[in-house]
Amino acid sequence: MENQVDINKVVRQHLEMEQFFSGFTLKSAAEEPESQGQEDTRVPRGVEGMAVAEKAAELEKIAEEVRRCCQCGLGSTRTNPVPGEGNPDARIMFVGEAPGADEDAQGRPFVGRAGQLLDKIINACGLKREDVFIGNILKCRPPDNRDPRAEEIISCLPYLQKQIEIIEPEVIIALGAHAARTLLDTTKSIGQLRGQFHEYYAGIGRPPIKLMATYHTAYLLRSYTPENRRRVWEDMKKVLAELGLPVPE
Ligand code: URA
Repeated sequence: MENQVDINKVVRQHLEMEQFFSGFTLKSAAEEPESQGQEDTRVPRGVEGMAVAEKAAELEKIAEEVRRCCQCGLGSTRTNPVPGEGNPDARIMFVGEAPGADEDAQGRPFVGRAGQLLDKIINACGLKREDVFIGNILKCRPPDNRDPRAEEIISCLPYLQKQIEIIEPEVIIALGAHAARTLLDTTKSIGQLRGQFHEYYAGIGRPPIKLMATYHTAYLLRSYTPENRRRVWEDMKKVLAELGLPVPE
């Protein structure tokens, strides 16, 4: 783990400022001033209540931005950026750490061994990959799969925040310590964070989104013990129950 305490502090300070300024663009239509017959062009419209086609179009705009992005050093070392993919109207959004070698080669999230295990977990939940949205904290692969750096998270996180804002999932599942710590702005361990719901704040005036942290599937592959599998499965069952979906035994 690379300077985790410092990374969280740097990212938090930066994001608090971003959040402050972006708050002005996140207002819902209901909060906007009375138009009195004329459209108020000073306040950009929020994205709440968007139709699915509109969400898909907005997500595609973000994917385009990601494809052009060279804000951090990873822009010059990646083969393909990995913007994320899935149902624009997903009830569940999975968030991983960063693309690995397979994802970098294909430009798609979770397509390697860790992705195959994620597919199995999704299917075991009675869902298909197309039902959910799958994204990452970083959209480009760090060389040799090293940990994400603070400056990379700072420049990349707004893409994920915007994706969450558009999709408005009911539950976010943070896979692994990096995703959970970044989204929850904490330095706690994944062992402390998993197994219970937390709240993710998508912006001023928006209700918090439930966030379940669980083990990353790459960790699960490395440590494929009955105990770890049971823990991940318990976490998934809590998510299904929260969403009112059938909970398989
Ligand atoms: N690990 C991640 O965190 N994300 C991917 O997309 C693949 C593996």
